[in-house]
Amino acid sequence: MSLRLHEIAEGRNRILNPFTDDKLELLGEVARLRPGTRQLDLACGKGEMLCRWADRHGVEGVGVDLSEVFLTAARARAAELAVQDRVRFEHGEAAAYLRTCAGRFDVVSCVGATWIGGGLRGTIELMLPKVEPGGILLVGEPYWISEPPPGAAEMLGFRREDFGTLGDTLDRFDAAGVELLEMVLADHDSWDRYVAGQWWTMSDWLAANPGDPDAGALRDMLDRSRRYHLRYGRQHMGWGVFVLRPVA
Ligand SMILES: C[S@@+](CC[C@H](N)C(=O)[O-])C[C@H]1O[C@@H](n2cnc3c(N)ncnc32)[C@H](O)[C@@H]1O
Repeated sequence: MSLRLHEIAEGRNRILNPFTDDKLELLGEVARLRPGTRQLDLACGKGEMLCRWADRHGVEGVGVDLSEVFLTAARARAAELAVQDRVRFEHGEAAAYLRTCAGRFDVVSCVGATWIGGGLRGTIELMLPKVEPGGILLVGEPYWISEPPPGAAEMLGFRREDFGTLGDTLDRFDAAGVELLEMVLADHDSWDRYVAGQWWTMSDWLAANPGDPDAGALRDMLDRSRRYHLRYGRQHMGWGVFVLRPVA
């Protein structure tokens, strides 16, 4: 799926994951942030988490993302909340950025993009060397609420084995050498805000841009999003942000 299609679909969303404002607030509380906490946010999207937490908790940090469109929105949001002296946003591929960036952070986050390390385990392995002693990782990851019917995972764009149940996910954290400390999970309503929140935007864009070379692909994305969210995603796919720390 092309980045441009996501940039169009997410046009009206500030949080590019199945969390509402309330859940993002709750995550900030459970993550025990303090003024001066330093955070590296990989695949930061429009930077809502960093900007909001800089405003609310005094967090300082860096967000990295591949999309210039999302980064422009992130910088505008930082200016809107008057936190541009505390957060900065850099264009880059997350894994490559990690190889070159100096220093460690109190919080290293990857919320909704564990493909950056080839899956959950690989992404945790990429993140661990950047975590300060005593620091935490925040990882946003899907899980299966209930066993998806045969072929449903593929229709949602995944393989069945890409994710486990919540219990399997705990086993995956253990195997990756991190301890699960806390979690905040999406629910049906917050998933709807994320997925259904894109439909009207896509429909309006298609009406305004019928001759665009990406119009066919976006129409397909809109059709699939509605069909698979209602048939399978809402029932079978969960998502949460997990608070983790390296096992000593
Ligand atoms: C589902 S969105 C999540 C964005 C943000 N973390 C949030 O929760 O609002 C995934 C993000 O990953 C970014 N992305 C995808 N592949 C990437 C990569 N290899 N390196 C950096 N960013 C990437 C996309 O541009 C997009 O902003």
